Amino acid sequence: KKTDDQVLVIFGGSGDLTKRKLIPAVFNLFKGGFLPKCYAVVGVGRTEYSDEEYRKSVVFENEHLNEKDKVSESDLKRFSDLIYYQSLDTKDVDSYANLKEKLNQLDQSKATCHNYIFYLSTPPSLYEVIAEGLAANNLNNQEDGWTRLIVEKPFGYDLESAKHLNEHLLKFFAEDQLYRIDHYLGKETVQNMFVTRFANSIFEPLWNRNYIHRVEITAAESVGVEKRGGYYDSSGALRDMVQNHLFQLVALVAMEPPVKADAESIRNEKLKVFQSLRPYTKEDIANHVIRGQYMSSTIKGEKVPGYREEEGVGEESKTETYAALKFYIDNWRWAGVPFYIRTGKRMPTRVTEVVIHFKPNHHHLFSSNSNLANPQNTLVLRIQPNEGILLKFAMKIPGAGYNTEQVNMDFHYDDLSNVYVPDAYERLILDCMQGDATLYARGDSTEAAWEFIDPILRAWENEEIPVYGYPAGTWGPENADTLIEGEQMTWRYPCSNLTDDGN
Ligand code: BG6
Repeated sequence: KKTDDQVLVIFGGSGDLTKRKLIPAVFNLFKGGFLPKCYAVVGVGRTEYSDEEYRKSVVFENEHLNEKDKVSESDLKRFSDLIYYQSLDTKDVDSYANLKEKLNQLDQSKATCHNYIFYLSTPPSLYEVIAEGLAANNLNNQEDGWTRLIVEKPFGYDLESAKHLNEHLLKFFAEDQLYRIDHYLGKETVQNMFVTRFANSIFEPLWNRNYIHRVEITAAESVGVEKRGGYYDSSGALRDMVQNHLFQLVALVAMEPPVKADAESIRNEKLKVFQSLRPYTKEDIANHVIRGQYMSSTIKGEKVPGYREEEGVGEESKTETYAALKFYIDNWRWAGVPFYIRTGKRMPTRVTEVVIHFKPNHHHLFSSNSNLANPQNTLVLRIQPNEGILLKFAMKIPGAGYNTEQVNMDFHYDDLSNVYVPDAYERLILDCMQGDATLYARGDSTEAAWEFIDPILRAWENEEIPVYGYPAGTWGPENADTLIEGEQMTWRYPCSNLTDDGN
């Protein structure tokens, strides 16, 4: 694809995300030869920096550029020459004129052609003001080149604020200029879910209510809230992970084949999934949604604090660090198939995976001899770590009779040893540079996902719904097990069995 000459303007240019993810992503694009001939990055922030000081901070002294040593001194210098800085008070409309001036200078000295990506990596409270400030200075117009706006998550705090934000941004930018980032969509394994389903003829015929018993998605993290207690305490797992990342995974599992593999067709199908979610009643929320919070515990001999003891977190906080949901997608393909999704911090390990549980055979020919009365085929799409795909199926144990055993057919991405797997941000920034919004969330989908989540948020605020404690380092509140009903059925990493290795 063609990449026009352009400038990337990062609001929040001295922030953590910029150093940790954005500059390293651009650096990798530079190393890989993906940047256009005329290119520049302008960091924008309140702090006063000279270009040189800024380069020092985000390039030369940035420990997240960990492959720096793999480029020569002169290349590193060449990369840093692409980086500039402009101090700006986002709330002062006039100060955007300085940015405009800086961009004009770059357009002349670097021939960057009036093509701009504005990346909002600031607190969300500034998104509207920045969009307005850019527009007041005519930096949203596309007459001399193009303009795109990347908006970081969280996109809204609930349905109302998300709608408000959409409306506000759409006053100044058209929908096709807006790129709502969800870094899960930039993960190779997440994109591969689309390919696994629609590039093979063996999965799709089975991918429906006739053959699938249930779908399970887990996104577990071993870390706690780290230094983000302040942000997290007003967010919680539902807003931080479920509404966006987990729902994107649900959409990719559940969507119909798109007309074409392009942004509009794919995003049309994803929207339909969100529109088909069966809305929760109050009873559903009480019975089918579990929230939990980690408590202090000892992990591998080391004492770790409980959530309420973390910096920036209220002593009586009810914010959930764990959420598990059971819900249905009321459409032709998925009628009656339960979806179970869960996410949590301070779990025993870091793992994100989608598990498709197929229905057992309707007639058990081997049941009397088998050591597994009712074996189910399982397809596990491992998003991270150990990226890969695992298929579990029954085999005959050699010897007399027909004893069967579940075995694994296991593919690891690592086996494609000479393939470079780009970081999510690297892929997403490149896509935006090329004007491809496929892996970005569209406004209507974002709102549709909030529409489903909103009643849970309201119920948690107003009703007597317990927040279950779980010891740090475990699989969450034990009663999340009861969400999955039925004999021999539980999460693939069951809460009550800590020794399970996940196979
Ligand atoms: C972020 C959340 O969006 O995703 C974090 O704000 C979470 O709380 C992170 O830790 C998880 O991302 P990943 O790529 O590590 O699975």
